[in-house]
Amino acid sequence: MNVVTNFKWIEAANYDEMSKIAATIFIDHLKKNSETVLGLATGGTPEGFYKELVAAYKAGEVSFAQAKSFNLDEYVGIDPANESSYHYYMDHHLFNHVDMKRDNINLPAGIQSNLEKAAAEYEAMIKAAGNIDIQLLGIGGNGHIGFNEPGTPFDVGTHIIELAQSTREANKVYFDSIEDVPTHAITMGIKTILSSKKIVLLIAGASKQEAFDRLRSRIVTEDFPASALHNHPDVTVIYTDVK
Ligand code: F6R
Repeated sequence: MNVVTNFKWIEAANYDEMSKIAATIFIDHLKKNSETVLGLATGGTPEGFYKELVAAYKAGEVSFAQAKSFNLDEYVGIDPANESSYHYYMDHHLFNHVDMKRDNINLPAGIQSNLEKAAAEYEAMIKAAGNIDIQLLGIGGNGHIGFNEPGTPFDVGTHIIELAQSTREANKVYFDSIEDVPTHAITMGIKTILSSKKIVLLIAGASKQEAFDRLRSRIVTEDFPASALHNHPDVTVIYTDVK
C-alpha cells in the first residue's frame, strides 16, 4: 500500500541513519531557536537519537541551556528513582549528559495523590510554555502514540490511561516480570500531541511493520491512534527496517 500522504516520509538505510537524521532535525531547530520547547519520547526506538544529541552537545555543536522539554508519558505508580521509570530513562539517556536546566525539564508525575489534577496541570504547563515546538514520537505495535491506546478519543489532553495488554507485554523487557509492568500511565493526549508545531515520528523494526502499513493507508480512525497525525500539517516520518 503505497498511498501518498501529506507526511514527509524518509526511509533511512538503517537504525543509525534514522537516529542521525532525526537528531539533525532537532539540532537544527535548536540552533535556530535556542528556546525551543522540545517534546520527548522514551522507549527503545529513540535511544540512538539521544546518543546523537549527546554526541553533538559534547562536540560543542548544540546547547540545551535555553531549551525546555516535556515528555510524553510516565507509568503510574513508578517512582522517578526506579530504573524502569521514564524519569530515570531520560536522565540516563539525555539529561545527565547535556546542559539542560533542571527547572526546564518536565515529565508527567506517575506518583500523585490526585492524578487527574496532575494531568490537567501538566496540560496547562504545556499551553503556558506556548505548546511544543518539535515533538518526537515512537509508535506502538498497536498504533499508540504517547500511551494513547486504540480507542482513545482524539480530542483529549493529558490524561490517565489503562495500558493495553500488548503494550504491557512489549514493555516487560524493562521490568522483572509482567506483573511488575504498571497497568496505567499518565500521557499527553492526542489533542496535546496535535498542538505541537512540528512532529517527528520514528518507526524502526519488523515489529512495527503492521503499524507502518496502517499509517501508510491513511485511514483515520480512533482504533489506530497514530492515524490522528494525518490531521497535522507538519509530520516527518523517519523509518527503517520495517519490512
Ligand atoms: C514512549 C511512548 C511510546 C513509545 C512506543 C514505542 O514515551 O510514548 O508511544 O514510543 O511504545 O516504544 P519502543 O520504541 O520501545 O518500541
